[in-house]
Amino acid sequence: MSVSDLFFRALGIDPGDRRQLTAAAKRSGIPVARLRYYNDANILPSGEDLAPVLDLAGSSELELMLAMGRLDRETLGAIQAHAGRIADLLEGRKSSQATAQEQAQAPQLVLETDLGRLYRGDCIDLMRVQNSDSVDTIFADPPFNLNKLYPSSINDNLKTERYLDWCEAWLSECIRILKPGGALFLWNLPRWNAEIAAFLSGRLTFVHWIAVDIKYSLPIQGRLYPSHYSLLYFVKGPQARVFHPDRLPMQVCPHCAGDLRDYGGYKAKMNPKGVNLTDVWWDIAPVRHAKYKRRNGANELPLKVLDRVIELSTDEGDLVFDPFGGAGTTYMAAELKRRHWLGVEIGPMDDIVRRFADIEQDRKVLNAQRGLLNALFPESVRRIRERNGWWTCESVREKDPTEKQQSFTFLEGLERR
Ligand SMILES: C[S@@+](CC[C@H](N)C(=O)[O-])C[C@H]1O[C@@H](n2cnc3c(N)ncnc32)[C@H](O)[C@@H]1O
Repeated sequence: MSVSDLFFRALGIDPGDRRQLTAAAKRSGIPVARLRYYNDANILPSGEDLAPVLDLAGSSELELMLAMGRLDRETLGAIQAHAGRIADLLEGRKSSQATAQEQAQAPQLVLETDLGRLYRGDCIDLMRVQNSDSVDTIFADPPFNLNKLYPSSINDNLKTERYLDWCEAWLSECIRILKPGGALFLWNLPRWNAEIAAFLSGRLTFVHWIAVDIKYSLPIQGRLYPSHYSLLYFVKGPQARVFHPDRLPMQVCPHCAGDLRDYGGYKAKMNPKGVNLTDVWWDIAPVRHAKYKRRNGANELPLKVLDRVIELSTDEGDLVFDPFGGAGTTYMAAELKRRHWLGVEIGPMDDIVRRFADIEQDRKVLNAQRGLLNALFPESVRRIRERNGWWTCESVREKDPTEKQQSFTFLEGLERR
């Protein structure tokens, strides 16, 4: 689990020195375990713990807040009031950014198709040479800092602050190259997206926190069973240039295609084109079966997620960028859907190259999935329902020709419950 060390630094404690920590616990009367908690989670102490902590730190509450980067709005307001003087103090930071740019390595082109280009290298280096306001949609699925072993041997166990600093660095470039009206999607654990959303909200317009219902961890004592990934959806400027969400089929029994809910007298008002897409995506299965996996190890997203995101936010011919190639799911979805794409991966890329050599396999999966969208009862389901004597859009309208296809909203509310 990623931890912080800002609290210990503010107190002048070396995190590796157990004796210093025990001495601090003794002096303050705060148990070692609680001091560790404040440090690891970077939580500001409160109540009875605050005064002894300030005594240990030899600082004021304001200084501790600044050292831990936990600013309340009042402090932020005070900083804003002195923006010029504080900016002068921080000017040195810019020269270190310039040095990082000079050291950047130009990414190497590895694969080119009619629609896309894939590079080997660091995503920040690639973005630095892209024009501002040039990409229509960005989808990013970065490493989650869970200490996983990646084929690229990247460090996936950074200190909390370093991980968030890194996220802000590559996201800043994403924001620069995104076109006005373009969309940014960020796939991550709720824990990280809760922090990153605050950063993005100051630069883009929040559209949705989409909960993608996939269990991703084993149950942990004292916590709810983690059952959703967060997919943040932001746009540049006041509104999205493109927004055409797919409509989903009505959920039916997988065996007999019968109703799972009682739709009472409202069947005729159901939209034959399907149910509205909501901000809870319950129909995404993880890529588990070896037959469908493009890469050994975890981390590959289902094609369905990228199909949906690209359909929602782009038109044919638009440009899609994903800074974290992995198994190349975004690039494959973009290619199959006739969007231009730009990709980069820091580690081995053989899996992506092989995947493109075998593009027909992904095409079959994508076509099969798309055949089930934008109809309340896809053709195969409609036939089974007819055979089993269940209602269909046609049968309910024949029965009650006065029913008009109006105001589906109420029914779609029912469908979600
Ligand atoms: C979670 S995986 C992405 C999986 C991908 N969405 C898919 O469905 O196949 C993250 C990938 O980002 C790569 N990566 C990590 N840091 C990177 C960087 N700075 N630039 C480019 N790629 C990076 C890792 O090597 C890893 O393959």
